[in-house]
Order: sequence, then structure tokens, then C-alpha cells
Amino acid sequence: MKHVSSPLIELKGVGKIFHTDELETHALSGVQLEIAQGDFVAITGPSGCGKSTLLSILGLLDFPSGGSYRLAEQDVVGLDSRARASVRNTRIGFIFQAFNLISDLTVEENVALPLTYRADYDRAQAQKRVREVLELVGMTHRARHYPGQLSGGQQQRVAVARALSGQPAILLADEPTGNLDSHNGEAVMQLLEELHRDGATICMVSHDLAFARRASRIVHMLDGRIVDEDTFERLRHERDMPIPVLQGAVG
Ligand SMILES: Nc1ncnc2c1ncn2[C@@H]1O[C@H](COP(=O)(O)OP(=O)(O)OP(=O)(O)O)[C@@H](O)[C@H]1O
Ligand SMILES: [Mg+2]
Repeated sequence: MKHVSSPLIELKGVGKIFHTDELETHALSGVQLEIAQGDFVAITGPSGCGKSTLLSILGLLDFPSGGSYRLAEQDVVGLDSRARASVRNTRIGFIFQAFNLISDLTVEENVALPLTYRADYDRAQAQKRVREVLELVGMTHRARHYPGQLSGGQQQRVAVARALSGQPAILLADEPTGNLDSHNGEAVMQLLEELHRDGATICMVSHDLAFARRASRIVHMLDGRIVDEDTFERLRHERDMPIPVLQGAVG
């Protein structure tokens, strides 16, 4: 029998080491993270602390160097590439900072793209689903346009529709408001909040604390580790302190 309360996502002791030339970068160390179904988690922290690396691992775009990852009670670290691709296509929706729409496909073709790899959506079902998600993000009136004909905010709404089209178990968003002005950033943030209210599970990376605080839970990262809020604030404060001698030496 399925245990109802087991988390949708369960990371244990996840590490990630990048090797480049002589350099070894410990991008993630000992990461423990649980995300329950219906959660809206924001991951925040300074540049280079490992947020995107963590999201890539959650989205099965990259492998951890160590540790375990269970998604919907399935061990997904040991899967072969075909099985990984299948889990990615059916379970995960991505939203990127730079929208990443395909410029020579129309809005509706972009949104339909994830469904073309799905045996469980025939043409009619895919068309119906595309109409539904475009309606949801308020972009029906631009279905036949190309991404280049849309504003940044509109492009991101289309990207959200594309992420939603395959009815994923979780939406992963890496700085979804990062390329947008405050007005459009706010609109995309409100859209994510609305999706969450309707039951979506979301994990969003944002270095903007004002956006991160609107999630139901904030995960703070520093140097590849998840830290509690007090530690985060203390270390952030320490690092922000000017060091006059060093500044003088550099200048
Ligand atoms: N493919 C790679 N090869 C080598 N090092 C990498 C690679 N990807 C990331 N890194 C390193 O891993 C660390 C974490 O990078 P990551 O992109 O996860 O940071 P981030 O928190 O998303 O930063 P930002 O806020 O600037 O997007 C950084 O030191 C980065 O230089
Ligand atoms: Mg990043």
C-alpha cells in the first residue's frame, strides 16, 4: 500500500563535484531536502552557492556525485538514460530565467512540444491540453505568434504553459523572474502563486528574498550546503562586512 505522507522528493546526502582542469569544485555537499506534494519551496542564496546545480539534479538534467534521490518513491539515481528521460518528460516541468522558447516554433507549437514525446497524448488530446494551459496563463490570444513577437513577460508565461503541458508532478523554476522588469516579474510570481493554490508543487530558485518569501518554505544555501536561516543571516552579515585592509590592498 502507498504511504500517503511520504515526500514527493527526498534527497539524502547529495553531493556534486565538478572537475575542470586541476580544479575540483564542491558545488553541493551533504544536501538533505524533502519536498512534499503541494509544497512551494524557494531556494535562495548568493551567486555560486549551488542553487542551479541543485535544481539540475532535481530535474534529472545532471547526476549527483554521491547521495540518494527518490522521486515519488522511486530511486532515480540508478536509472539508465532512457528511463531518466522518461521520468523527466512525464514528471518534471522546467522554467528557466531566459525562457528558452524555440524561436521558429509558434507559441502553441512550443507548448505542445513536451507532449510530442508522450505516447499517452494523441494529437487531439495534445491540442486540447495546449488550449487549456494557454488559457491558464492568459496567452490564448497569442497562440499563433512567434516568441520574438512577444514581450519578456509574455514569453515567460508561455514557458510556464510549456512546463505545465505534460501535467508534471513538480515545476522547477530557476530564477523565473530574473530577466523580467518588476511589473512582469510580479505577474509571473502571481501566476506561480496561483498554480500553487490550485495544487501544483513548485521548487523555485530566486536570489531575490522578496520573491522567495512568498513561497511556503525557504531553503537557504551557502557554499553548496543547506543552512538554517540564523546561520544564513549570520554568515551573510559577516561576509558583507567591509574589510578595509583588503579593500585598500586591492584598490
Ligand atoms: N558545469 C560546471 N563545471 C564546473 N563547475 C561548475 C559547473 N556548473 C557549476 N559549476 C560551479 O559550481 C558552483 C555552483 O554553481 P551554480 O550554478 O549551481 O550556482 P548558483 O547558486 O546557481 O549561482 P547563480 O546565482 O549565479 O546562478 C559554482 O562555483 C560554479 O562555478
Ligand atoms: Mg544559478
